[in-house]
Amino acid sequence: MNTTRSLPKHIAIIMDGNGRWAESQEKQRSEGHLQGAENLRNVLEYCSEYNIDYLTVYAFSTENWNRPEAEVEALMSLLIEFLKAETEKLYNNGIQLRVIGDTSLMPETVQKEIKNALIRLTIPEHKRVLTLALSYGGRNEIVRATKAISRDIVEGKITLDEINEDLFSSYLDTAGIPDPDLLIRTAGELRLSNFMLWQLSYAELYSTNKYWPDFTKDEFIKALDNFNSRTRKFGEIK
Ligand code: FPP
Repeated sequence: MNTTRSLPKHIAIIMDGNGRWAESQEKQRSEGHLQGAENLRNVLEYCSEYNIDYLTVYAFSTENWNRPEAEVEALMSLLIEFLKAETEKLYNNGIQLRVIGDTSLMPETVQKEIKNALIRLTIPEHKRVLTLALSYGGRNEIVRATKAISRDIVEGKITLDEINEDLFSSYLDTAGIPDPDLLIRTAGELRLSNFMLWQLSYAELYSTNKYWPDFTKDEFIKALDNFNSRTRKFGEIK
Protein backbone atom coordinates (compact mmCIF):
# COMPACT_ATOMS: atom_id res chain seq x y z
CA MET A 1 0.00 0.00 0.00
CA ASN A 2 1.05 3.55 -0.74
CA THR A 3 2.66 4.92 2.45
CA THR A 4 2.64 8.71 1.87
CA ARG A 5 -1.07 8.87 1.96
CA SER A 6 -3.92 11.04 2.92
CA LEU A 7 -6.33 9.04 5.01
CA PRO A 8 -9.99 9.81 5.53
CA LYS A 9 -10.70 11.01 9.06
CA HIS A 10 -14.30 9.83 8.82
CA ILE A 11 -15.55 6.83 6.81
CA ALA A 12 -19.27 6.23 6.30
CA ILE A 13 -20.41 2.84 5.05
CA ILE A 14 -23.60 1.56 3.45
CA MET A 15 -23.22 -2.13 4.32
CA ASP A 16 -25.19 -3.56 1.42
CA GLY A 17 -25.51 -7.08 0.05
CA ASN A 18 -26.06 -9.24 3.13
CA GLY A 19 -29.15 -10.77 1.51
CA ARG A 20 -27.42 -11.43 -1.82
CA TRP A 21 -24.44 -12.90 0.00
CA ALA A 22 -26.80 -15.32 1.80
CA GLU A 23 -28.57 -16.22 -1.46
CA SER A 24 -25.24 -16.87 -3.18
CA GLN A 25 -24.44 -19.34 -0.37
CA GLU A 26 -27.95 -20.82 -0.39
CA LYS A 27 -28.45 -19.57 3.16
CA GLN A 28 -31.19 -17.64 4.95
CA ARG A 29 -31.07 -13.85 4.72
CA SER A 30 -30.62 -13.70 8.52
CA GLU A 31 -27.35 -15.63 8.09
CA GLY A 32 -26.21 -12.85 5.74
CA HIS A 33 -26.96 -10.25 8.40
CA LEU A 34 -25.11 -12.33 10.99
CA GLN A 35 -22.03 -12.42 8.75
CA GLY A 36 -22.55 -8.71 8.12
CA ALA A 37 -22.44 -7.95 11.84
CA GLU A 38 -19.33 -10.11 12.11
CA ASN A 39 -17.70 -8.11 9.35
CA LEU A 40 -18.51 -4.85 11.09
CA ARG A 41 -16.36 -6.11 13.97
CA ASN A 42 -13.53 -6.76 11.50
CA VAL A 43 -13.83 -3.34 9.88
CA LEU A 44 -13.71 -1.69 13.31
CA GLU A 45 -10.33 -3.36 13.74
CA TYR A 46 -9.08 -2.14 10.36
CA CYS A 47 -10.14 1.38 11.35
CA SER A 48 -8.06 1.10 14.54
CA GLU A 49 -5.11 -0.15 12.56
CA TYR A 50 -5.32 2.69 10.02
CA ASN A 51 -6.12 5.40 12.57
CA ILE A 52 -9.53 6.22 11.17
CA ASP A 53 -11.12 8.25 13.97
CA TYR A 54 -14.74 8.16 12.84
CA LEU A 55 -16.72 5.26 11.42
CA THR A 56 -20.44 5.61 10.71
CA VAL A 57 -22.44 2.62 9.50
CA TYR A 58 -25.95 2.38 8.11
CA ALA A 59 -27.23 -0.52 10.21
CA PHE A 60 -30.99 0.03 9.87
CA SER A 61 -32.82 2.58 7.75
CA THR A 62 -36.26 4.13 8.19
CA GLU A 63 -37.24 2.14 5.07
CA ASN A 64 -36.02 -1.16 6.58
CA TRP A 65 -39.13 -1.16 8.84
CA ASN A 66 -41.04 -2.28 5.72
CA ARG A 67 -39.12 -5.59 5.50
CA PRO A 68 -40.83 -8.84 6.56
CA GLU A 69 -41.40 -8.96 10.32
CA ALA A 70 -39.11 -11.96 10.79
CA GLU A 71 -36.20 -10.16 9.10
CA VAL A 72 -36.74 -7.00 11.16
CA GLU A 73 -36.81 -9.15 14.31
CA ALA A 74 -33.61 -10.93 13.30
CA LEU A 75 -31.90 -7.56 12.75
CA MET A 76 -33.11 -6.27 16.14
CA SER A 77 -31.79 -9.39 17.88
CA LEU A 78 -28.45 -9.01 16.13
CA LEU A 79 -28.27 -5.42 17.23
CA ILE A 80 -28.96 -6.31 20.87
CA GLU A 81 -26.33 -9.03 20.68
CA PHE A 82 -23.82 -6.66 19.06
CA LEU A 83 -24.32 -3.97 21.70
CA LYS A 84 -24.10 -6.50 24.55
CA ALA A 85 -21.00 -8.19 23.20
CA GLU A 86 -19.10 -5.15 21.94
CA THR A 87 -19.61 -2.52 24.64
CA GLU A 88 -16.66 -3.63 26.74
CA LYS A 89 -14.39 -4.09 23.74
CA LEU A 90 -15.27 -0.66 22.40
CA TYR A 91 -14.57 0.83 25.83
CA ASN A 92 -11.20 -0.92 26.10
CA ASN A 93 -10.26 0.24 22.61
CA GLY A 94 -11.00 3.87 23.48
CA ILE A 95 -14.00 4.12 21.19
CA GLN A 96 -17.03 6.28 21.87
CA LEU A 97 -20.46 5.19 20.67
CA ARG A 98 -22.98 7.48 19.00
CA VAL A 99 -26.37 6.55 17.62
CA ILE A 100 -28.13 8.56 14.93
CA GLY A 101 -31.70 8.10 13.78
CA ASP A 102 -35.16 8.04 15.27
CA THR A 103 -34.61 5.33 17.87
CA SER A 104 -37.97 6.08 19.49
CA LEU A 105 -39.38 3.77 16.81
CA MET A 106 -37.27 0.80 17.97
CA PRO A 107 -38.74 -1.90 20.24
CA GLU A 108 -38.38 -1.14 23.97
CA THR A 109 -35.85 -3.93 24.48
CA VAL A 110 -33.57 -2.46 21.82
CA GLN A 111 -34.01 1.07 23.15
CA LYS A 112 -32.98 -0.16 26.58
CA GLU A 113 -29.84 -1.80 25.20
CA ILE A 114 -28.95 1.32 23.22
CA LYS A 115 -29.36 3.43 26.37
CA ASN A 116 -27.15 1.07 28.38
CA ALA A 117 -24.46 1.10 25.71
CA LEU A 118 -24.60 4.89 25.40
CA ILE A 119 -24.31 5.34 29.16
CA ARG A 120 -21.13 3.28 29.17
CA LEU A 121 -19.72 4.58 25.92
CA THR A 122 -20.40 8.32 25.96
CA ILE A 123 -16.85 9.20 26.87
CA PRO A 124 -15.68 12.56 25.48
CA GLU A 125 -12.01 11.67 26.16
CA HIS A 126 -12.30 8.77 23.72
CA LYS A 127 -11.48 10.45 20.45
CA ARG A 128 -12.45 7.57 18.16
CA VAL A 129 -16.17 7.32 17.45
CA LEU A 130 -18.35 4.52 16.13
CA THR A 131 -21.71 5.86 15.00
CA LEU A 132 -24.56 3.45 14.37
CA ALA A 133 -27.33 4.75 12.12
CA LEU A 134 -30.44 3.04 13.47
CA SER A 135 -33.95 3.68 12.23
CA TYR A 136 -32.13 6.37 10.32
CA GLY A 137 -33.18 8.38 7.29
CA GLY A 138 -31.44 11.53 6.08
CA ARG A 139 -34.69 13.30 5.26
CA ASN A 140 -36.19 12.33 8.62
CA GLU A 141 -33.10 13.72 10.37
CA ILE A 142 -33.32 17.02 8.46
CA VAL A 143 -37.03 17.35 9.28
CA ARG A 144 -36.38 16.64 12.98
CA ALA A 145 -33.56 19.23 13.01
CA THR A 146 -35.81 21.78 11.30
CA LYS A 147 -38.52 21.22 13.89
CA ALA A 148 -36.01 21.62 16.73
CA ILE A 149 -34.65 24.88 15.24
CA SER A 150 -38.17 26.19 14.72
CA ARG A 151 -39.06 25.35 18.32
CA ASP A 152 -36.01 27.28 19.55
CA ILE A 153 -37.01 30.29 17.44
CA VAL A 154 -40.57 30.21 18.78
CA GLU A 155 -39.20 29.96 22.34
CA GLY A 156 -36.87 32.90 21.65
CA LYS A 157 -33.68 30.88 22.19
CA ILE A 158 -32.30 31.79 18.74
CA THR A 159 -33.18 34.31 16.04
CA LEU A 160 -33.85 33.65 12.37
CA ASP A 161 -30.68 35.55 11.41
CA GLU A 162 -28.55 33.24 13.51
CA ILE A 163 -29.38 30.25 11.29
CA ASN A 164 -26.46 29.29 9.11
CA GLU A 165 -24.93 25.97 8.01
CA ASP A 166 -22.92 25.53 11.21
CA LEU A 167 -25.92 26.19 13.42
CA PHE A 168 -28.09 23.86 11.34
CA SER A 169 -25.43 21.11 11.59
CA SER A 170 -25.50 21.45 15.36
CA TYR A 171 -29.18 20.42 15.33
CA LEU A 172 -28.50 17.23 13.34
CA ASP A 173 -28.01 13.86 15.05
CA THR A 174 -24.34 14.05 14.02
CA ALA A 175 -23.68 17.32 15.91
CA GLY A 176 -20.00 17.59 16.76
CA ILE A 177 -18.93 14.85 14.36
CA PRO A 178 -16.99 16.00 11.26
CA ASP A 179 -18.61 15.21 7.90
CA PRO A 180 -17.54 11.92 6.29
CA ASP A 181 -14.61 12.19 3.88
CA LEU A 182 -15.30 8.85 2.25
CA LEU A 183 -18.53 6.95 1.63
CA ILE A 184 -18.12 3.25 0.89
CA ARG A 185 -21.05 1.33 -0.53
CA THR A 186 -20.79 -2.41 -1.06
CA ALA A 187 -22.75 -4.71 -3.41
CA GLY A 188 -22.30 -2.51 -6.46
CA GLU A 189 -25.13 -0.05 -5.94
CA LEU A 190 -24.63 3.63 -6.78
CA ARG A 191 -27.24 5.22 -4.55
CA LEU A 192 -27.27 7.23 -1.33
CA SER A 193 -30.49 5.55 -0.15
CA ASN A 194 -31.36 8.43 2.18
CA PHE A 195 -28.05 8.15 4.08
CA MET A 196 -26.48 11.28 5.63
CA LEU A 197 -27.87 13.55 2.91
CA TRP A 198 -26.55 16.74 4.52
CA GLN A 199 -23.25 15.35 5.79
CA LEU A 200 -22.13 13.61 2.57
CA SER A 201 -22.15 16.82 0.50
CA TYR A 202 -18.39 16.73 -0.14
CA ALA A 203 -17.59 13.08 0.53
CA GLU A 204 -15.68 11.00 -1.99
CA LEU A 205 -17.86 8.10 -3.11
CA TYR A 206 -16.50 4.57 -3.46
CA SER A 207 -18.48 1.59 -4.66
CA THR A 208 -17.36 -2.02 -4.79
CA ASN A 209 -19.17 -5.06 -6.17
CA LYS A 210 -18.24 -7.11 -3.09
CA TYR A 211 -21.13 -7.99 -0.81
CA TRP A 212 -20.70 -6.58 2.71
CA PRO A 213 -19.77 -9.94 4.35
CA ASP A 214 -17.01 -10.26 1.70
CA PHE A 215 -15.62 -6.78 2.28
CA THR A 216 -12.23 -7.95 3.55
CA LYS A 217 -9.19 -6.06 4.76
CA ASP A 218 -7.78 -6.06 1.20
CA GLU A 219 -10.99 -4.43 0.01
CA PHE A 220 -10.77 -1.88 2.83
CA ILE A 221 -7.21 -1.03 1.81
CA LYS A 222 -8.32 -0.72 -1.83
CA ALA A 223 -10.93 1.83 -0.77
CA LEU A 224 -8.30 3.79 1.19
CA ASP A 225 -5.92 3.71 -1.79
CA ASN A 226 -8.69 4.89 -4.06
CA PHE A 227 -9.49 7.75 -1.67
CA ASN A 228 -5.82 8.64 -1.60
CA SER A 229 -5.77 9.00 -5.39
CA ARG A 230 -8.59 11.58 -5.42
CA THR A 231 -8.05 15.34 -5.54
CA ARG A 232 -10.52 16.89 -3.17
CA LYS A 233 -11.57 20.30 -4.42
CA PHE A 234 -14.57 21.24 -2.30
CA GLY A 235 -15.93 23.20 -5.26
CA GLU A 236 -12.70 25.17 -5.72
CA ILE A 237 -10.06 25.02 -8.50
CA LYS A 238 -6.91 23.13 -7.56
C1 FPP B 1 -28.21 -4.42 3.64
O1 FPP B 1 -28.22 -5.73 3.16
C2 FPP B 1 -27.97 -4.40 5.05
C3 FPP B 1 -28.90 -4.07 5.99
C4 FPP B 1 -30.29 -3.74 5.68
C5 FPP B 1 -28.59 -4.05 7.41
C6 FPP B 1 -27.15 -3.95 7.77
C7 FPP B 1 -26.94 -4.76 8.96
C8 FPP B 1 -25.83 -5.42 9.30
C9 FPP B 1 -24.57 -5.33 8.60
C10 FPP B 1 -25.82 -6.34 10.46
C11 FPP B 1 -26.38 -5.80 11.70
C12 FPP B 1 -25.67 -4.62 12.23
C13 FPP B 1 -25.34 -4.44 13.50
C14 FPP B 1 -24.84 -3.13 13.95
C15 FPP B 1 -25.48 -5.52 14.46
P1 FPP B 1 -29.51 -6.20 2.37
O2 FPP B 1 -30.29 -7.08 3.27
O3 FPP B 1 -30.25 -5.02 1.83
O4 FPP B 1 -28.86 -7.02 1.20
P2 FPP B 1 -29.48 -7.26 -0.24
O5 FPP B 1 -29.62 -5.90 -0.89
O6 FPP B 1 -28.46 -8.11 -0.90
O7 FPP B 1 -30.80 -7.95 -0.03
